[in-house]
Amino acid sequence: MATVTETTSAPVVETTLNFYNPPADGSKPYNIVYELPEGTPTRNFGDKPFTVSVQDIRGREHEFSLDVNGFQFEKRFHEFNDWSNDDAIKSEYYPGVITAIKETTGAKEVVIFDHTLRTKNGSRNPVMVVHVDQTPWSAAERIRVHCPEKADELLKKRFQIINYWKPLTGPVQEFPLALGDAGNMNLDDVVEVEHRYKERTGETGSVRFNPEQKYYYLSGMNTDEEVFIKCYDSLEGVAKRTPHSAFADPTSPPNALPRESIEVRTLVFYD
Ligand code: OGA
Ligand code: FE
Repeated sequence: MATVTETTSAPVVETTLNFYNPPADGSKPYNIVYELPEGTPTRNFGDKPFTVSVQDIRGREHEFSLDVNGFQFEKRFHEFNDWSNDDAIKSEYYPGVITAIKETTGAKEVVIFDHTLRTKNGSRNPVMVVHVDQTPWSAAERIRVHCPEKADELLKKRFQIINYWKPLTGPVQEFPLALGDAGNMNLDDVVEVEHRYKERTGETGSVRFNPEQKYYYLSGMNTDEEVFIKCYDSLEGVAKRTPHSAFADPTSPPNALPRESIEVRTLVFYD
């Protein structure tokens, strides 16, 4: 049975989120993202499921902001819908993403370094494990990789990594995204994981369960809505790194349409 509790303020769904389960032999965790021979394990650590209450913030989503909570919902419509055309995404969708981030954050410069499409016929599915995309080291490394000539100068000032996440079809009926309150997050719960690409090694954060963590989502997110997810901020005293995970929503209809979304990863610079 679906477990949905109506409280006076906001409904809460009870679901399972997967958290970090360390390697049994105490070794440093890694994750391999290039193609390996059939049967070779791609990581040396596991997941541990916990039951978590995820609060639906529909109607009060504007109470949450990038610097206080590490995520922010806004409304914005993009004309673009040619999602099967990668070049068109870069030349026609990216500029609107840059505008959206500048308008929302007041940033001076935004550099897009990557995007991921999650579609019903595509190769990428919702991610069912709580994670933070970057570590402090990998965030700085992204700047050295993507802005090599200006990196030293850029690293002296405030910078952020923000993912711009949007449904392609809506309203989202299954596997919505749960976002942790980074303002309420003990960063000791984030574990560095080596993220091995073929050509270089980055780092991501896996998250240990802690009952103090608070998770939120926006139910029925539509194509004119967007969420900014802060993955890193060099500034102290603000929300720095936001854990997130897709989850099985007990209120999803039986024949729910697959969730389709795009997340665009960006480096964000200030004066
Ligand atoms: C992200 C992310 C997972 C998903 O945008 O960084 O982890 O299921 N997305 O959309
Ligand atoms: Fe992520």
